[in-house]
Amino acid sequence: MKFGDFPKVSSFDGVTEFRNHLRSLGLDMPCDDIVAAGPQSPLSMPLKLGDKTISNRLAINPMEGWDCELDGLPTENTKRRWHRFGLSGAKLIWGGEACAVRPDGRANPKQLYMAEDTQAAIAELRNITIKGHKEAMGNDRDLVIGLQLTHSGRFCKPNDNTRFESMIAYRHPLLDRKFGYPKDKPVMSDDEIKRLIDDYVITAKRAQQCGFDFVDIKHCHGYLGHELLSAVDRPGPYGGSLENRTRFLREIVQGIHSEAGGLDIAVRLSAIDTVPFKPDPTQSVPGALGPGIPDDHALPYRYAFGANPNNPLEYDLTEPKALFEIMRGLGIRLVNITAASPYYNPHVIRPALYPPSDGYHPPEDPLVGVMRQIGMVHELKQAFPDFCLVGSGYTYLQEFFPNVAQAVVRQGWVDIVGIGRMTLAYPELPRDILEGRGVQKKRLCRTFSDCTTAPRNGIVSGCYPLDAFYKKSPEFKQLAAVKKPAKTA
Ligand SMILES: Cc1cc2nc3c(=O)[nH]c(=O)nc-3n(C[C@H](O)[C@H](O)[C@H](O)COP(=O)(O)O)c2cc1C
Ligand code: SF4
Repeated sequence: MKFGDFPKVSSFDGVTEFRNHLRSLGLDMPCDDIVAAGPQSPLSMPLKLGDKTISNRLAINPMEGWDCELDGLPTENTKRRWHRFGLSGAKLIWGGEACAVRPDGRANPKQLYMAEDTQAAIAELRNITIKGHKEAMGNDRDLVIGLQLTHSGRFCKPNDNTRFESMIAYRHPLLDRKFGYPKDKPVMSDDEIKRLIDDYVITAKRAQQCGFDFVDIKHCHGYLGHELLSAVDRPGPYGGSLENRTRFLREIVQGIHSEAGGLDIAVRLSAIDTVPFKPDPTQSVPGALGPGIPDDHALPYRYAFGANPNNPLEYDLTEPKALFEIMRGLGIRLVNITAASPYYNPHVIRPALYPPSDGYHPPEDPLVGVMRQIGMVHELKQAFPDFCLVGSGYTYLQEFFPNVAQAVVRQGWVDIVGIGRMTLAYPELPRDILEGRGVQKKRLCRTFSDCTTAPRNGIVSGCYPLDAFYKKSPEFKQLAAVKKPAKTA
């Protein structure tokens, strides 16, 4: 088999063949033969969370479009996306999308950010989501909507899409090299972190005024909150011990309790990570990316939160579990589990058959990546049954998404299944499942990665291959032009 030549999920003729393939990969993935519909089905079971009820087991995971105005105001594209989040029928809308707590913390000049001038428009995004949900479901009963608060840290590009203006928590031996940082690149001072904590608290208060049910203090994907979790070499109050590395989260939570009392707090967490990957140079030719291989790294490798330092290609939940204990102490019970980072090891966070322009060919059958996320969430759920856990990374399952989603919820491996890329391609999937219509195969996301390649090249994100709105947009041609030289093997 040539590299990257993994069988397409669409090639399996039914659940039995799919399961046989899982077995051939040694994957023990739950997968039901028949997907139930209606109010008694496993995916329709309500879930009680504090004083709220989430009345089905499907969530829309945060999906940004990098399509706001430069002043942070949502555009028609942004509004359309949030409307479609609501139309999905999923009862948990996680964050909508990453919302920067201040303009210089954006990952892209067109990222959403919260400020006095944008607050009303962000409240409108929430209302648009509710409107979409009512159109689809007839009411907005037990619909829970949060806002994801972020600072992009190392991956800040607030002014120019081609230039990082990184704010780093520590000097990272591999990422500094990968992104070409000068040797004297300064790290954020403790005072800068303290000021940022204030920004989070102010933003949370604004989110509460907008009517959001919760805020997510984002700790994933290599952005600042996540980077702090691996700041083992950082001196001072925000680095070193796990207690120090979680001080950022603890101080934000304390601030929210005192300034925005009653607002629920959640965390999206990259619970596992690994070393950065790169295309194998011996198998890459101009215009064709090789399969991903781990970047050279010395052992012990201590810069991946949730990895075994002596073999960072293996995950280790010891520290993530200690973080769960801390979150429990802070009153946090809603956690959305994801993995790693789209910037340095995308196959771990978003299993895909086709790489984005800055990626590499999958080094493993993407189903192995799906199983990795399902398995580690299962382990966390067993250890922390009192938490409500949302899982991620399910889109690659395509036609078998409903069978696996139902099985993992039914068997208690996860509480709620989050949907990412599939939402862009086919937002009505949750309703089609819950109402027993089955999947519309032509609309399934086939993980072409255009929704990532586009923003990496300064073009707004969206599902260009399958969503007619983007297919017919002027940006479609722009994307085709940038994809040409990055053509894959
Ligand atoms: C275009 C795009 C935008 C995303 N935006 C966000 C975001 O704003 N916040 C976040 O936490 N994750 C974001 N993600 C990650 C997804 O929420 C999700 O974890 C990932 O796509 C894997 O899930 P999936 O297999 O269902 O797509 C984004 C992913 C993509 C492809
Ligand atoms: S562009 Fe569309 S088909 Fe491709 S990965 Fe994104 S959502 Fe899926």
